[in-house]
Amino acid sequence: MTLPRRKFLTSISMLAASTAFPIHVLDFGRTEKLKVALIGTGIRGITFWGKRLVDEYSDILEFVGLSDSNSSRLQYGKNYIGAACPTFDNFETMVSTTRPDLIIVTTVDATHHEFIIKGLEMGCDVLTEKPMTTDEVKCQAILEAEKKSNKNLIVGFNYRWSPYATKIKELLLNDTIGKLTSVDFHWYLNTYHGASYFRRWHGEMEKGGSLWVHKATHHFDLLNWWIDSEPSEVFAYGDLEFYGKNGPFRGKNCRDCEHTANCDFHWDILKDNTAKKLYVDHEHEDGYIRDNCLFREEIDIYDKMSAQVKYANNTTLNYSLTTYSPFEGWRVAFNGTEGRIEAWLDIPYNDNSKLSQEELHALEMDQAKSDTMNIEPIIVHKIWKDFETVTVVAEKRGHGGGDRRLQNHIFKTPEKVDEFDRTAGIRDGAMSCLIGIAARRSIEKERPIKISELSDLKPKIKRS
Ligand SMILES: NC(=O)c1ccc[n+]([C@@H]2O[C@H](COP(=O)([O-])OP(=O)(O)OC[C@H]3O[C@@H](n4cnc5c(N)ncnc54)[C@H](O)[C@@H]3O)[C@@H](O)[C@H]2O)c1
Repeated sequence: MTLPRRKFLTSISMLAASTAFPIHVLDFGRTEKLKVALIGTGIRGITFWGKRLVDEYSDILEFVGLSDSNSSRLQYGKNYIGAACPTFDNFETMVSTTRPDLIIVTTVDATHHEFIIKGLEMGCDVLTEKPMTTDEVKCQAILEAEKKSNKNLIVGFNYRWSPYATKIKELLLNDTIGKLTSVDFHWYLNTYHGASYFRRWHGEMEKGGSLWVHKATHHFDLLNWWIDSEPSEVFAYGDLEFYGKNGPFRGKNCRDCEHTANCDFHWDILKDNTAKKLYVDHEHEDGYIRDNCLFREEIDIYDKMSAQVKYANNTTLNYSLTTYSPFEGWRVAFNGTEGRIEAWLDIPYNDNSKLSQEELHALEMDQAKSDTMNIEPIIVHKIWKDFETVTVVAEKRGHGGGDRRLQNHIFKTPEKVDEFDRTAGIRDGAMSCLIGIAARRSIEKERPIKISELSDLKPKIKRS
């Protein structure tokens, strides 16, 4: 399939449809490929936004430049991706030399704004990984940069695209439970996945904005989309009670720690070929240690988080995030004036899966094509009636199948109008990270925080 480059440019604008800008369509030749440049050749950059694009979409796009602050990892990343393009240690030089149509940002969260803003200023559309950014000042700067630019920003929210999340959206769109009034949402990270955030930069507030932002931005985006309104006020509690300084001992890093025999979290990165080649082999350059001790004193993020969010349409949300659960899964329940929807994934007691938590975590991260399909239930219980079970064919790999659907929409079916409104633009990116930023501030200030205190965005009663 060869699609003209102009269709991609149109699609990027459509994906960012929540911005105030009209769709721009540039008049390029019908056979020219979309020129893509990527900054951040870490795991997400080289796999999902790197090798996968080369493997799946080489007929319609080409990498024109790759950049990373670690030149050694950058060379490894280029080979891994299999891109025949130059590499750059300077982002602006890459953009001015290669003139990409689309810049993909997959760096550390707290740096996203730099490349989003510069990319827009230099005349490129930008696709950033979540979270859009990590604090309100950077958020406002991104909003202003996009307003001044005639280009667009899209945020790679993949969770919306999983069939299970989409089915919930469909039920809500069809007013299955009448007017939505309140939501309970609880996410449990297990001691593989949850712990992994505490081993590296995510454990430092200034790099990832805490899991309120780095992780929960996914959840808040889903909730904003499902509830179809924007958050207006947040009140939160949170603490660090398990990882970091709470550990019984600590070492320099995991691979040669003297406590190996006593530590349930021991992970020998030297036996993990992917992690060794991507991180250990390049740590001499920038000191980025992938297998830090998750009990190190410098960890300053929360490991338990709980919030109440009020939406502009008066829906209330009870939210929690746990990072040391024995299993990985989530539950959501929607209360409406005509009934209730309950949904969950990967709760072992409700499931007949025999996979271990380690295997489940590996599958979640895997981008391989083949997958085992599971039939997953959603309960619809109308007031005064017996409950019904709606079933969904769900996938495990690539974030529940969301990853590949998101990319297929961007690159393969750009003109298709999405009936579920799964595309996320700058306003969605902002609203989801602002809930986490407000939660952090609420904990610090011990009071509810209005979303309108944080940027010039005024929450809308209806999101779409
Ligand atoms: N949507 C999802 O499900 C999903 C999954 C994983 C990661 N992510 C996101 O992808 C991004 C990357 O995550 P990762 O796990 O690949 O991290 P990583 O640590 O593996 O990679 C980050 C890369 O960015 C580079 N970098 C850091 N600061 C830089 C700077 N100032 N200039 C240039 N390069 C810089 C690092 O050297 C590293 O190579 C994060 O924002 C993360 O939130 C999203």
